[in-house]
Amino acid sequence: MTANLVQACMGKKESRPAFWFMRQAGRYLSEYREVRKNAGGFLDLCYDPEKAAQVTLQPVERFGMDAAIIFSDILVVPQALGADLRFAEGEGPVLAPVNDSDKLAPLKWKQGMLEPVYEALRLTRAKLPEDKTLIGFAGAPWTLACYMVQGKSDREFYDVRRIAQTDRKFFLKLVDMLSESVYQHLVAQIDAGAQVVQIFDSWAGICSATEFDAWVIAPTQKIVQAVKKARPGVPVIGFPRLAGMKYRDYAAQTGVDVMSVDYSVPLEWVKKLQDICVVQGNLDPLLLADDKAGMLAQAGRIVDALGHKPFVFNLGHGILPHTPVENMQALCEFLRKSNYS
Ligand code: CP3
Repeated sequence: MTANLVQACMGKKESRPAFWFMRQAGRYLSEYREVRKNAGGFLDLCYDPEKAAQVTLQPVERFGMDAAIIFSDILVVPQALGADLRFAEGEGPVLAPVNDSDKLAPLKWKQGMLEPVYEALRLTRAKLPEDKTLIGFAGAPWTLACYMVQGKSDREFYDVRRIAQTDRKFFLKLVDMLSESVYQHLVAQIDAGAQVVQIFDSWAGICSATEFDAWVIAPTQKIVQAVKKARPGVPVIGFPRLAGMKYRDYAAQTGVDVMSVDYSVPLEWVKKLQDICVVQGNLDPLLLADDKAGMLAQAGRIVDALGHKPFVFNLGHGILPHTPVENMQALCEFLRKSNYS
């Protein structure tokens, strides 16, 4: 049975949930590791249109998900603003911190820098079967600001939260600049063939309730409104990871068509969110990696609980690199055969 992601995002109930997975291209696939080996660094792969298109298509060719997500990274936006970015092997992203107005002043959006990403989208769309959807994406301003101010991954990003309070003028300027750039990047991806776009706010969950309104909801609302005005009819998915009780406000206020929900939220509560918008989620990637039987049982519970409304099956966060291909195969087979109740 087929299902179409665009239709599902627009609230159409089909015979089964549409499905795709965050980080569905990547290290758990031997064919990805093969391409990566000969591509130089991770960013070199992101900026090589042919290779980026190739690895974008790999999981869809192997497992038949309903959508492909363009192989890129949220941090290409800070890089296109002039931020110094590298990926250290086994360490994740490293940036020269942008933590005051002087360091912000020289940054300026250079859209031309991301032309290889747009070319990768065009190449992917040309090769992707017509019934499969191509997804574009960007990081949300808050999450991008976390990496830019801190300069690397962190668990709490206290420096960022402190600076947002003590130098609000600088932080607002940074978030405004990021909002405008994210908007430009999403529209350019749509023009290059993206049919749905997702906004990743991976660090939304570290905000206090008031910070969440100011730094997660407000900029996202502005971006969603602008994208919808510029390119009407293209569904927008929002993912304010670990938002907890704030998922409700996010869904009600940002204007996203679909809200992606992490695995900490109980299904009974996710069900209530379905009254506000289409929901995407929320299988635990650790179950997918480590417990095939438990994973299939939980996938069944998710479809049973959420399948009474239009819904997109996904994970609660990205696939883990040690995930066995066999588990992914089993999950996709289960979802293809699943039926809305
Ligand atoms: O989903 C997909 O398949 C599309 C590709 C994609 C990547 N990153 C590729 C990637 C997407 C959508 C992202 C988003 C992204 N990048 C986020 C938001 C989602 C999330 O995971 O919370 C964030 C926070 C980043 C920043 C980033 N990129 C980090 C922190 C790291 C290092 C951690 C890690 O997993 O290694 C990356 C690197 C990265 N981005 C890899 C991939 C496939 C691994 C690079 C490699 O092949 O070595």
